[in-house]
Amino acid sequence: MNFDRHRRMRRTAFMRDMVRETRVTKEDLIYPIFVVEADGVKKEVPSMKGVFQVSLNLLEKELEEVSRLGIKSVIFFGIPNEKDPEGTGAYHDHGVVQEACRISKRLHPEILVILDTCLCEYTDHGHCGLIDSETEDVDNDSTLPLLVRTAVSQAKAGADIIAPSNMMDGFVSEIRKGLDDNGFTHIPIMSYGIKYASKFYGPFRDAADSTPSFGDRRTYQMDPANRFEAQRELESDLEEGCDMMIVKPALSYLDIIRDVRNNSNVPVVAYNVSGEYSMTRNAIDTGLLDEEVIMEQMVSMKRAGADMIITYFAKDLCRMIDEGME
Ligand code: PBG
Repeated sequence: MNFDRHRRMRRTAFMRDMVRETRVTKEDLIYPIFVVEADGVKKEVPSMKGVFQVSLNLLEKELEEVSRLGIKSVIFFGIPNEKDPEGTGAYHDHGVVQEACRISKRLHPEILVILDTCLCEYTDHGHCGLIDSETEDVDNDSTLPLLVRTAVSQAKAGADIIAPSNMMDGFVSEIRKGLDDNGFTHIPIMSYGIKYASKFYGPFRDAADSTPSFGDRRTYQMDPANRFEAQRELESDLEEGCDMMIVKPALSYLDIIRDVRNNSNVPVVAYNVSGEYSMTRNAIDTGLLDEEVIMEQMVSMKRAGADMIITYFAKDLCRMIDEGME
């Protein structure tokens, strides 16, 4: 017998599809949209070429495009007219994302809507919760009731999924209880429970106008150097009743996505964050890399174990999928 020393699988181009292990489909993609409360704005985010802030009154056109391309799910982020220390815009029944959700549900009931439950886009200091004036730190326990109010107002507006991103201790169980008490037992929680204190969020803070005016988020977000800490966050979120788990950022954290996949049985969501988007977009726009790297990055996240991907590339990807790229 002549054994081939190379154990590479014999295959022809013809059978490539048959033996392919990972596929990216439109169903996997969640598209973030930045919605402005003030009228008449459609403005490209300077640090995120191809991503726009869009006014509520211009949202119809944006949603039309999203639907036509075949994007199935969106997540709205809000840019309110006014911010205050308590972030009241986050839990106002007619706040900007609540209204965006109503518009979306009225015009395109086929699009699934996820709302991000956090205060940082609505506080004038840019932190994710109330600030203790003595320590200048976020006060965990007084923030929790406000997050619950935010989640309930989002569910009332018709959100299909609540995605709390604030990283306060106990946020999943408090929000679960708040949703249940208000008749929203059927609404799932997609927790941003594994969220690293990452410099890759820089462009998002530009887009959402949410850069902290002092301090940073390291007291409530995770150290990029820690892997087992993610395991502990995962365990506590599962215990508190989260239905889906987000890992954020994605590309520098593929090992963490794999850990979550191996150690839980909930759907895993990779958040391909703003800095990851902008790096790749710039490299493509300057001709340094071919556009196909977008798909390669998505395939990597899925191969690492992600079931879904939140990505600013969703429109490009739908176009690529329509053109037959995998
Ligand atoms: C918080 C939130 C942030 C992102 C999503 N939700 C910002 C932060 O933690 O500073 C960042 C996402 C991205 O960079 O694309 N509401």
